[in-house]
Amino acid sequence: MKKGKKLYEGKAKIIYTTADKDLAIQYFKDDATAFNNLKKSTIEGKGVLNNRISEHILNNLSQIGIKNHLVKRLNMREQIIKIVDIIPIEFIVRNVATGSITKRLGIEDGTVLKEPLLEYCLKDDKLGDPLVAEEHILMFDWATKQELEKVKKMILRINDFMIGMFWGVGIKLIDFKLEFGRLKTNGKTEVILADEISPDTCRLWDSITDKKLDKDRFRKKLGDLIPAYTEVARRLGILHEQSNVSAVNVTKLRSIKKKK
Ligand code: TMP
Repeated sequence: MKKGKKLYEGKAKIIYTTADKDLAIQYFKDDATAFNNLKKSTIEGKGVLNNRISEHILNNLSQIGIKNHLVKRLNMREQIIKIVDIIPIEFIVRNVATGSITKRLGIEDGTVLKEPLLEYCLKDDKLGDPLVAEEHILMFDWATKQELEKVKKMILRINDFMIGMFWGVGIKLIDFKLEFGRLKTNGKTEVILADEISPDTCRLWDSITDKKLDKDRFRKKLGDLIPAYTEVARRLGILHEQSNVSAVNVTKLRSIKKKK
């Protein structure tokens, strides 16, 4: 499938049109940003790893009946996705308190929450993605009551599934961000999971050592990010245990070949 024109460029991904009006190509960049673009860098190989990890998680979620926008991965950096009308809310799910909630509410870092906590942020970079209440979402028609109820049910299942999936490979799912969109088919509209699920959008801690295996390595200068993302991919079985050719090395090999 060939890329058409750029439809949208975000901080970590670019969306391109295709010859099929219902499908787009999602390209994973190596750019990393934090604190609403205040901190920026390019981390070679991040896009390749996120493409693979997100594909793995979304395919697993499909298998338990969570409909999502992924059609298939095209190559190292690109996926074909269904075009949806994104609900302008970031749905933040927290199992353990860390990050913004500890600063905002003075909750002690690492507090295990008695049940998953769902927070809503308005997707608006200019406003710094502010926290909003369900009442705001309904008041300003960002989503309907029915859509919210459906999304909440999906989120609880996604959280349960992902906690188990990561627990099985020695990783605690601390928190994560999800996005949903409206898909129109044959005149009917339904809400499906969209965007990516990767160490950019989740907090993942090693079960035994609490070592951070996610974008907090970049946000908080905890050391290299690529070995941590590679470790997540390896544990999920995406990169072969014995292989010493990581996804990143493959990218490098390709670019060396091209130069020759
Ligand atoms: P926070 O503690 O900074 O609010 O982040 C909560 C979770 O949401 C964490 O796993 C990181 C993720 N997240 C994003 O994916 N994108 C964002 O823009 C923000 C603010 C958080």
